[in-house]
Amino acid sequence: MMKKIKVLELFAGVGGFRIGLEKANKDKFETKWSNQFEPSRTKQWAYEIYDKHFPDSQNINEDIAKMNDEIFKNMDADMIVGGFPCQDYSVARSLNREKGIEGKKGVLFWEIIRAVKNIQPKYLILENVDRLLKSPSKQRGRDFAIMLKAFSDLDYSVEWRVVNAADYGAPQRRRRVFIFVTKNVCEVSENYLIKNGVMAKAFPLTGNIIKNRIKSDNLPSDIVSVSDTYSSEFYNSGIMSHGKFLTIEVEPKSEGATPLKAIVDEKVEEKYYLSEEKVEKFNYLRGAKKIERKTADGHKYFYSEGGMSPHDDLSLPGRTMLTSEGSINRSTHFIKDGDKYRILTPTEAERLNTFPDNWTEISGITDATRRFLMGNALVTDMIARIAEVIDRG
Ligand SMILES: C[S@@+](CC[C@H](N)C(=O)[O-])C[C@H]1O[C@@H](n2cnc3c(N)ncnc32)[C@H](O)[C@@H]1O
Repeated sequence: MMKKIKVLELFAGVGGFRIGLEKANKDKFETKWSNQFEPSRTKQWAYEIYDKHFPDSQNINEDIAKMNDEIFKNMDADMIVGGFPCQDYSVARSLNREKGIEGKKGVLFWEIIRAVKNIQPKYLILENVDRLLKSPSKQRGRDFAIMLKAFSDLDYSVEWRVVNAADYGAPQRRRRVFIFVTKNVCEVSENYLIKNGVMAKAFPLTGNIIKNRIKSDNLPSDIVSVSDTYSSEFYNSGIMSHGKFLTIEVEPKSEGATPLKAIVDEKVEEKYYLSEEKVEKFNYLRGAKKIERKTADGHKYFYSEGGMSPHDDLSLPGRTMLTSEGSINRSTHFIKDGDKYRILTPTEAERLNTFPDNWTEISGITDATRRFLMGNALVTDMIARIAEVIDRG
């Protein structure tokens, strides 16, 4: 009988990871637990949607920081998955010797590490904005190096890759870093990153190294030194094992994207079409401009931004969907439909992320909340591609 992989989905949102895993192999990946909590909101929309679709798992609607170690210890998960926020990961040595090393309170990455310590999973798949590789700006790469070191200290290897979903067939230009964590990767080599690694198999490459960007280094032996002084470039692919890492700027072997026109409906409800007044606002926002502004101390300066195309080109994949999608701003998709202009429906927003149609439809929810949830989510097909490689072993 096939051995199942039992999964814990953290920061579960509306279940993007689980959808991706089940697309790859529903019988193999069994999500048994999830945690999702939207701080300072009484209405827990994401949790409700997750629980509606997946009532078979134990879905916990509680701040992850309040879940005690025992709860994690009782989860015999083989894999932890989750998309967590990019925050300041710095650590300090605690004055109290017993306590050892202290990460900043409220930093959710340390909750993942706590879960890993208690559960000892075989694998993790994590997702984050690509800025994580460079932050903070004053000590570039520090936060990512802390992350690598934290996993290294627990005897895990870490593989990462920045993926633009549109390069691998998706209808959205969404660039995110995907991180695969496991034990026993011995190979820290160019061949691994370009050909044999999990990410290279999931997201094929041309084999070219961009601008000779290749670097290897050993992380300092102590995580506090990493936090205090370490800085490094981390390129769009990399592997770290036993404290040594290799990072290379690789070139995707593009498979072509799905254009917006393949996912937009021909006829939508009247409310999605824009009044002349709103069209003008979009035109203004998308246009080139130079505006005089004042700093708090009265100093005058010019803020300028370049022009965008008058409306989103339907022959291209969509741009990155943010949580503000649908409101009047430059990042909202603005499309020409016949001789009228409109925004995307919540269902079209779901398609940008390769979610099933109407996934976030639930009694009482607004269109704005549905789009917000999609802005937070991910392109599920990218998770499916990683899961297929894990499934093949
Ligand atoms: C980037 S989103 C992940 C979305 C998810 N991958 C999806 O497909 O919908 C991060 C999620 O973490 C949740 N979150 C934030 N703080 C949390 C906390 N303290 N405990 C548990 N979940 C939290 C947010 O509500 C949000 O849904």
